Amino acid sequence: MVSMNESWRMRNGLKIPNRSVLAAMTNKQSHVDGTLSEEEIAFLIRRAIGGFGIITTAASHVQESGQGWEGEFGVWGDHHLPGLTNLATKLNELGACSFVQIFHGGMRAPSDITGQQPCSASATFISEKEGFSRELSTQEVEDTIHAFVEAAKRCESAGFDGVELHGAHGYLIAQFLGSNTNRRNDQFGGELNERCTFLLKIIRGIRAIVDPNFAIMVRLSPVSEEIGITLDDTKHIIELLVEEEIDALHISCWDVFEEQQNSRTITEELCSVYSKSIPIVSTGSVWSAKDAQFVLDQGAQAVGVARVALPHPDWASLVNDPSYNPSRPPFAPEELLTAQLSPTFVDYMRRWKGFVTDGR
Ligand SMILES: Cc1cc2nc3c(=O)[nH]c(=O)nc-3n(C[C@H](O)[C@H](O)[C@H](O)COP(=O)(O)O)c2cc1C
Repeated sequence: MVSMNESWRMRNGLKIPNRSVLAAMTNKQSHVDGTLSEEEIAFLIRRAIGGFGIITTAASHVQESGQGWEGEFGVWGDHHLPGLTNLATKLNELGACSFVQIFHGGMRAPSDITGQQPCSASATFISEKEGFSRELSTQEVEDTIHAFVEAAKRCESAGFDGVELHGAHGYLIAQFLGSNTNRRNDQFGGELNERCTFLLKIIRGIRAIVDPNFAIMVRLSPVSEEIGITLDDTKHIIELLVEEEIDALHISCWDVFEEQQNSRTITEELCSVYSKSIPIVSTGSVWSAKDAQFVLDQGAQAVGVARVALPHPDWASLVNDPSYNPSRPPFAPEELLTAQLSPTFVDYMRRWKGFVTDGR
């Protein structure tokens, strides 16, 4: 039986000191020009002190047109490098493996943030307010791939151990993968193989210019009705991905305990076949040490957590006690402020139902 404090390695040999992964959390704490704020850095550093083997940053946009949230830090320009370097240096000093989650919001990059009509794989209805997304031209798709590659290179220069390509939650990479959101007729659309071209070209582009020690992790949502991705599609995507030089896969399940019709969880279903070929991190609704052990027992190499790490920054150290069962929401704002969330982040968490005592 694998335990949470055991180290493991990604495919490129990167050694991760334990099985705890801080999953990406958008926190709205950074500056309008996309530079990292002291608050965002302090939030992540506190979790590295708390023992997480991998610290993943919030989603960070690779082009200005891809910004999904106010206060989101960017990786699209060299002016972001000093902040990125500061963060990577501190994380590495604390012994955590450091990953920047890079993404483009596509049709989920609101026009009131970017000043542009949201773009996507195809023209797709977004909302009454936004109307439809604009289909990217083939050249613009190539430019976006280039922006992902440049962003990854920037993260490497800053000293991070790797990047996580955010292919989950319906953002641009997922919009290319999904049959509902990608109805293109060029090389980036068509059957599932073609719909994967955008992601595969990003991976190959990054691999061609970074050191082999720099890790590439890919995050996927295994099922998305809205975007048009089935579990069988995801299996096929993973089969393509294991042929590429990527180093780990991260599945975003939202609820790792949910069983499908065959009574198996998605983690078990995917890990039983693919974790021999590639390490898999699985995330969603883990709270206690027992929950975390459940995910490892289902075959995942590591366990991602997001919400529990907000009030409990030392979760990754404390989870080594099998009886660890930290307190649950709602949390008083003061508890969250003490755990190194800024007032802006606490305010954002008020929008997550039942999380903050004076929130929604
Ligand atoms: C405040 C907040 C912000 C999030 N932002 C991101 C993000 O930037 N990128 C991402 O892939 N997932 C994001 N997620 C999803 C988490 O990474 C995670 O998959 C989800 O919260 C389920 O895990 P949990 O039950 O441990 O919270 C966010 C979740 C929360 C609570």
